[in-house]
This record gives sequence, C-alpha cells and structure tokens, in this order.
Amino acid sequence: MKKLSIIVSSTRPQRVGAPVTAWVQQTLASDWAVTILDLAAINLPFLDEPQPAGSGVYTQPHTLAWKAAVDDADAILVVTPEYNGFFPAPLKNAVDYLMAEWEEKPMALVGYGCGGGRRALAALTQLLTNVKARVVGSLELVFGTDLTTSGEIAANAEKVAELRELARSLADATEREPVSV
Ligand SMILES: Cc1cc2nc3c(=O)[nH]c(=O)nc-3n(C[C@H](O)[C@H](O)[C@H](O)COP(=O)(O)O)c2cc1C
Repeated sequence: MKKLSIIVSSTRPQRVGAPVTAWVQQTLASDWAVTILDLAAINLPFLDEPQPAGSGVYTQPHTLAWKAAVDDADAILVVTPEYNGFFPAPLKNAVDYLMAEWEEKPMALVGYGCGGGRRALAALTQLLTNVKARVVGSLELVFGTDLTTSGEIAANAEKVAELRELARSLADATEREPVSV
C-alpha cells in the first residue's frame, strides 16, 4: 500500500480540523497506509534554521524530524481551515522549513469554511506550486451543507465520491515520472 500523510493545519483546541481529518482518514484508509501529521503535536517553532531551506542545510532536530516525515510520504493531503481568507500560519511555517522535499510531491487539499475554504485553498495551491509540489486538486467542505460549525460531518455520497476521486488523482501522481525542465 502507498503511504498517505494527512497534514492537520489547525492547531486550535477543539478544532473542527480533527473530525474533518478523521472523516478523510476513514474514507481513504482501505486504499492507503495513512499517517497523521498534526501540526499541533509536531509543534515546530517559528523558523529557526540559520540557512534558508533552499540550501538543504538543516541543523535543528525538529527540522530533520519534519524532513523525515515529509520524505516518508508517497503523497500528502492537507486538511485546512480558512482564517481571514488564508490557510493558518503554522502551515506556512511548516512549508517554509523545507524546499527540495516538496518538489514533485503529490499533494491534495481539503478545505472547510463558510465558503468551503476556497480562498485558503487558492492561497495554499499558490504556495505549494511555488515550492514545486504536484498539487492534483482540492475539495471544499461548506459549513451548513457538508459539516456543522462544531465539526459533525454531513458530507453526502457525492462529497465522498469527490474525495475518493481526489485520492485516485494522488495515486496516479505517485506513478508519474518527475517533469524534467
Ligand atoms: C482567526 C480566524 C479567522 C477566520 N476566518 C474565516 C474566514 O476567512 N473564512 C471562513 O469561512 N471562516 C473563518 N473562520 C471560521 C472558521 O472557519 C471556523 O472557526 C473553523 O472551525 C476553523 O477551523 P478549526 O476549528 O479547525 O480551527 C475564522 C476563524 C478563526 C479562528
């Protein structure tokens, strides 16, 4: 089985991100070996490497652990809320820690919010494209339709099918050769 890591981007207590992640995990667990990368538990400090990640010189144990976690995944799915039109700051920090590790990494996004987290998903797609990840697509979960504001998932069969389709695109991306420039 291929390895899928799910990044939980919200670090708040009682976050809706936890049940959303559980729903994603349950939906995909029959096809993937799933690992949860919870940014609250990983608890990276604000970027404290002396060299920019592009140098590939990592000195901090937490950077090396984060690198190992990202390297280990065949594909990554990011679960993100929308905060003031963006994805949460700890996710930006976690991305900034690394560089080569994101390159060609198959990635998919699941957002949630009043508008399905659409603005956060757009910003995150831009960020991940900048670090040359292969973003295969995203899924929007809308408060009041697909989930309650306290995190009870009401996603219908269509949403489940959309999530499975997204995961299939991820699986396809793991089979493709890197694009040479
Ligand atoms: C700082 C902050 C900013 C928010 N901004 C937005 C927003 O721009 N759009 C939106 O749909 N919801 C927004 N919300 C509401 C969140 O969608 C809602 O609180 C959600 O539960 C956050 O995800 P979490 O519980 O996993 O942290 C915001 C919430 C917070 C805490």
